[in-house]
Amino acid sequence: MTPSDQALSLFTTGLKNAHAMEKQALSILKPQASRIESYPDMKARIEQHISETEQQIQRLETIFDQVDESHSGFKDMILSVGGAMAALSHAAAGDEVLKDTFANYAFEHYEIAAYKSLIQIGDRLALGDASALLRQTLDEEERMAQWIDEHIGLVTDQYLVLQKADQQAKR
Ligand SMILES: [Fe+2]
Repeated sequence: MTPSDQALSLFTTGLKNAHAMEKQALSILKPQASRIESYPDMKARIEQHISETEQQIQRLETIFDQVDESHSGFKDMILSVGGAMAALSHAAAGDEVLKDTFANYAFEHYEIAAYKSLIQIGDRLALGDASALLRQTLDEEERMAQWIDEHIGLVTDQYLVLQKADQQAKR
C-alpha cells in the first residue's frame, strides 16, 4: 500500500465507523426524546439533533459513494463508544434525565473527535468536498455539545425542583 492508499483506507474505515456511530446515536436519542416529559427544552433540542443526525447519515453515504470503489455500502457493525455509554442502558430511574445528559455530552464529544480526525484525513487526501460536508456535521455536533454544556446546570435545577414537588405530593 502506498501512503495515500493507506490514508484512503483509513478514511473509508472512518466513514464506516462514523455511520455506525450515527446509527447508534439515533438509537439512543429516539427513545430519550419519546420518554422525556418534564423537560420540554431538552426534548426539543434532542428532536432537533435527531433530524440533524439523519442528515449526517445522508452526508456520510454521499461521501462514501464517492470514495468507495468496491461499492460495498455500509455494513454497520455494533460500535462501542466506551464506558460512559453504559449509563444509557439504565432503566427509568428518577434521575434518568441527568444520566442521559451526561451520556449525551460524552457521546457528542466522541463524535466531535471522530469528525475532526476524518476531516484531517480528508484534507490530507485533498478531498475538499468531503471535508466540507464533514465540517457541516462537525459544526452541528459542536453546537449540540455546547447546548448540553450550557444546560447541565439548568436541567439539574429543574430535576431538583421536580423532585421536591414529587416528595411534597407524596406527603
Ligand atoms: Fe451528535
